[in-house]
Amino acid sequence: MIRVLLGGDVVGSRGCAFAVRAVRSLRDRVDVVILNGENSADGNGITRSSAESLYTVCDVITTGNHAFRRREFTEQYDDLSYVLRPANYPEGTPGRGVCLIDKGSYRLAVMNICGTAFMDDLDNPFECAERLLTGIDTKNIILDFHAEATSEKKAMGFFLDGKVSAVMGTHTHVQTADEIILPHGTAYISDVGMCGTELSVLGVEASLAVRKQRYKLPVRFEEAAGEQIFCGAIVTIDERSGRAAEISRVQIREKDLK
Ligand SMILES: [Fe+2]
Ligand SMILES: [Fe+2]
Repeated sequence: MIRVLLGGDVVGSRGCAFAVRAVRSLRDRVDVVILNGENSADGNGITRSSAESLYTVCDVITTGNHAFRRREFTEQYDDLSYVLRPANYPEGTPGRGVCLIDKGSYRLAVMNICGTAFMDDLDNPFECAERLLTGIDTKNIILDFHAEATSEKKAMGFFLDGKVSAVMGTHTHVQTADEIILPHGTAYISDVGMCGTELSVLGVEASLAVRKQRYKLPVRFEEAAGEQIFCGAIVTIDERSGRAAEISRVQIREKDLK
């Protein structure tokens, strides 16, 4: 059995520091760790230093609609093979949206795709998933589906049921309580949540988010300070069949690590 943890969007340097602690506390419960790092840099996006700090405890970093927020990181996608950008960006975009982890006794593919409902108009995520699967040579496959709409995410879960081990959502920064094993053996959850300040609006200082929405004026967002929460989900996969046996949600607060 392979136990795979996907930790949701890590927010800023506080989130990175706490994600490292939280993942270390789960060391005995997981074999492979994937973290979504699209908001891991202070001020959003991902940088070399935020990626390197997360990579101390994970195997793969996925991203999303903020993958190319930091210009200085754009070309790094070609250098850092452990950082994925959504696979449905146009041809010629730096980086890749799928990678293969080889642990010797088993292999695991990780795919990263962005949704298109209420999001940027990228290539059709369903067609993209189909295309990626034709090039993957293992039954153990995890998709981080970075999307806004639960309807699009659930449809992707059923679309890939029996074809991948797990479809796990990121992007909304809010963990959903709908984890399930679908009829053909694919684990599914609409969103695994975030790693950041719990008393915040998706990791952003609440008063700034309120100000922007109350007055509709431009506001420079800053990461909120305060107690951190790590949210994710662990999927257990039978590596002989690629089917998921179990999916469970994880939430770790600072007080849990004291
Ligand atoms: Fe995010
Ligand atoms: Fe996002």
